[in-house]
Amino acid sequence: MEGLKNPNGRFDDRQDLLSRIEKYERKVIPSYEGKVHELTHKLRNRPSICTSVSCIDVSKRIGDFEKDSKMNPELDKIRSELKRAEEVIREKDNEIEAKNKELREMTNMIQKMAATFNTEMSKQEILIRELNDEVVDLRGQIRVAIRVRDYEKDGSNFEITSDNEVKFQQNGQSNVFEFENVFKPTTNQPQVFNEIKELIMCALHGKNVSLIAFGPTSSGKTYTMRGDEENEGVIPRAINFMLEHSRHDLATIGWQYSFVASFIEVYNDEVFDLLDEKKKIKITGEAVTSNKIPIKGMRDVNHLLQLADAQRSVASTACNLHSSRSHAIFQIYIDGVNKSGETIKCSLKLVDLAGSERAKESGAQGEQFKELTKINQSLSTLKKCIRAQKNKDTHVPYRDSKLTILLRDSLGAGSSKTMFIAHVNPNDVCETDRTLKFTSDLRSTRIGKATVQTGQ
Ligand SMILES: Nc1ncnc2c1ncn2[C@@H]1O[C@H](COP(=O)(O)OP(=O)(O)OP(=O)(O)O)[C@@H](O)[C@H]1O
Ligand SMILES: [Mg+2]
Repeated sequence: MEGLKNPNGRFDDRQDLLSRIEKYERKVIPSYEGKVHELTHKLRNRPSICTSVSCIDVSKRIGDFEKDSKMNPELDKIRSELKRAEEVIREKDNEIEAKNKELREMTNMIQKMAATFNTEMSKQEILIRELNDEVVDLRGQIRVAIRVRDYEKDGSNFEITSDNEVKFQQNGQSNVFEFENVFKPTTNQPQVFNEIKELIMCALHGKNVSLIAFGPTSSGKTYTMRGDEENEGVIPRAINFMLEHSRHDLATIGWQYSFVASFIEVYNDEVFDLLDEKKKIKITGEAVTSNKIPIKGMRDVNHLLQLADAQRSVASTACNLHSSRSHAIFQIYIDGVNKSGETIKCSLKLVDLAGSERAKESGAQGEQFKELTKINQSLSTLKKCIRAQKNKDTHVPYRDSKLTILLRDSLGAGSSKTMFIAHVNPNDVCETDRTLKFTSDLRSTRIGKATVQTGQ
């Protein structure tokens, strides 16, 4: 049994012990037992004993011999070693069980700690996000996100480097562009909406909010804002979210809301009502006399969107089979009142701009060429307004186009929380370059802090 101990007098591990016991059982014991049987056999077959003693005597002698052999000190030693080994195994089993128990308790404790840590982390993340949002608010910055269409990555000079940054190489120079969100080609419609719904919520809290999709033709602006049957875009999702949130969470704290919507388009620098058989609308001062439809449920919304879809100016171009030839502005007017008589009166604008395009690529001629020129002119005025606002010029040329007259409140003349979603198709290097440069201007433009609109 000495061999089972290590130099510190402790027993080696259980496996070693078991293998030694097995060796005793397999080799030593059988060899002694073998000798006992051999001798017994010889004794039985000895003629002299067989003739001189009776069978009872023989078996007695055998029994005695076996008793003697049981008393054999070598076998006794083995037996006592086996007994001790058994005790040691039992001790080890108890030790292992105690360790297992300890381990189970530790695992439980670590799991509890990890859960608490995760909750704390997500609380911290939310807090950081809120603080970041507050900083952007206080600075009165325009928020900018980017949605990237699927593109050929081999040899591309465009790279998505994180959830907030993209890298773009042009003329041997590599620039990093920062965004509120980067929506990758794999980001789906619900995920896009999930990231911007906090902004939509601000409208329910009384702030004017604008979300504007821009970018070159065929980059996915209409897909993001309107979506298609299977993949609804921001407009239907935003209304659904507002209806649900106002009826449940906000109603429980005593707020009552009413919603009214309008949908207009700017086509060839003229304004048309998409909810009133495309009637031309005159803009007098700030007022827009478009049809306003009350919204009580999603059935109203779907009806309204179908009306607008049927009226919107769309054409097939070389770049996009269903290219929007107009800027579309969906606006939802929100009125809220709570039990103590506090009110809010604000609006949410969801804008799907027509895409910038080059005459050569789009193959535009005749009427389409005129449309394209007007689209590019209004987008250029929009950029000029942003630049003037960024440079804090005394004059911002809002009145130079119908589009900027309609969006002036979102671009700094009023109080608004504004987000642009830039759309790019990175394989179109030239347009990507232009779009990214414009996003830099947008990010550094201050439009003032959005305040709660009480309507009083
Ligand atoms: N992220 C996307 N995932 C899947 N399909 C998309 C995505 N973005 C755009 N598409 C598809 O690409 C096509 C062009 O998109 P869309 O019409 O939205 O472009 P656009 O930017 O509005 O163009 P235009 O300025 O000409 O109106 C559509 O068929 C649309 O369904
Ligand atoms: Mg479009």
